[in-house]
Amino acid sequence: MACDIVVLGGTGDLALRKLLPALYYLHRDGYLHAGTRILAAARAKHAAESYRRLVQRHVSQHVALGDFDSETWDAFAERIDYLSLDVSQRVEFPRLAQALGKVRGRVRVFYLATFPNLFAATAKHLASVGLVDEQARIVLEKPLGESLKTATQINDQIGAVFDESRVFRIDHYLGKEAVQNLLALRFGNALLEPLWRNAHIDHVQISVLETVGVENRGGYYDQAGAMRDMVQNHLLQLLCLVAMEAPVHFEPEAVRNEKLKILEALRPITGMDVQDRTVRGQYAAGERAGEQLPAYYFEKSVDHDSNTETFVALKAEIDNWRWAGVPFYLRTGKCLAQRKSEIVIQFKAVPHRLFSQNGGDPARNRLVIRLQPDESISLALMAKSPGRGMALQEVELDLNFAKAFKRRRWDAYERLLLDVIEGDATLFMRRDEIEAAWRWVDPIIQGWQDCYRSPKRYAAGSWGPDAADSLLERQGHCWFDEN
Ligand code: BG6
Repeated sequence: MACDIVVLGGTGDLALRKLLPALYYLHRDGYLHAGTRILAAARAKHAAESYRRLVQRHVSQHVALGDFDSETWDAFAERIDYLSLDVSQRVEFPRLAQALGKVRGRVRVFYLATFPNLFAATAKHLASVGLVDEQARIVLEKPLGESLKTATQINDQIGAVFDESRVFRIDHYLGKEAVQNLLALRFGNALLEPLWRNAHIDHVQISVLETVGVENRGGYYDQAGAMRDMVQNHLLQLLCLVAMEAPVHFEPEAVRNEKLKILEALRPITGMDVQDRTVRGQYAAGERAGEQLPAYYFEKSVDHDSNTETFVALKAEIDNWRWAGVPFYLRTGKCLAQRKSEIVIQFKAVPHRLFSQNGGDPARNRLVIRLQPDESISLALMAKSPGRGMALQEVELDLNFAKAFKRRRWDAYERLLLDVIEGDATLFMRRDEIEAAWRWVDPIIQGWQDCYRSPKRYAAGSWGPDAADSLLERQGHCWFDEN
């Protein structure tokens, strides 16, 4: 069906670096209906032609080498139009309605690539000029709100205009190929399921480590911090996918019901536990490969006295039958030594030791699901070391997806935009999921505020504050950072 894709915040980073390149690929690969139009709107003044040039510059930079060609671009550019619009002003919306016209039988997708404090008013303004019909969809970027209270307010206000089935709360991690592979691994193979529980798994680590700092998003980030920016959404969603029961179908409600059960089973971290089970850090000046890296508080648009965390590590526990007693360690941070996102499933030791490794206990099996930068699954097994005797040695079964599949990997936004166009909400967060996540995160943020402690400093380019290591050492564990 023909679609009007309206990108509000059309000159922002997200639109130019992610959304428009994703739409370019969808166009190139024939997924967009011939009649689909893209209308970008933002405050900046641009004629349609100058906006197209801006988009061309970004798309050509952000698609893979060899994927940009002028013929495809020219046809894609014809779909794009631009409207200068201040979304905070109700009086500006009739111009948007006029630009879209009253064409029947088109799906309207409103993508709010704007600050969350503009979501509710924007939805209301869209409705006030008659743009919200029963086909219209709204896409909201994370983080939705900054606490349970504000998220509930936004959800209420959006819900007054759009039915829940037409609200697409995006978490781009759910659109990543590798994250979906996690579902394939768990629910497309019989092998792991019997082991996927507290009887066999000792603990789980979920790390999303970044080498970048706050780049040009200091203003937003300094208000949000790593807990709201990453843990409340991406990390908790990954945790849900690792821990949830098999849904009955791969359909929106079935999948989201299972994720919600996990969020509701998370043991609250409150009071003294906040100090014992969480670590917050902030990067100080440092260096990586000879390059000097500035401290967080010297970044553009960041308050010089900022106490905002750029790193979080914590121990989560899931109070249910399958996971009782299994710690889930979550960790994320900016300006770290290495970019990597991975899930480590550490299995328990064999019940009775027959063999040794270097005279001691053999290492335990470990499944590492690497999401970024390369996508792989590796399983550490014990094998006999060649030669005399029965000494064991760790070896890895390694599956590298780039080698196994030669086809281009879709970007998360391509998949998610296509899902919105087709009305499939499986990979989007439902209202109750978002609220359950905030319900768990809020007391942690509150606990940090109550104790007035500054975040622990770590040198930019390092692996984060030492306290993150101590958090695991206290339980006899350590982070797997060897590669
Ligand atoms: C975004 C966060 O949601 O995810 C950013 O706002 C973060 O701060 C980014 O850098 C990480 O995404 P990816 O896909 O690069 O891992």
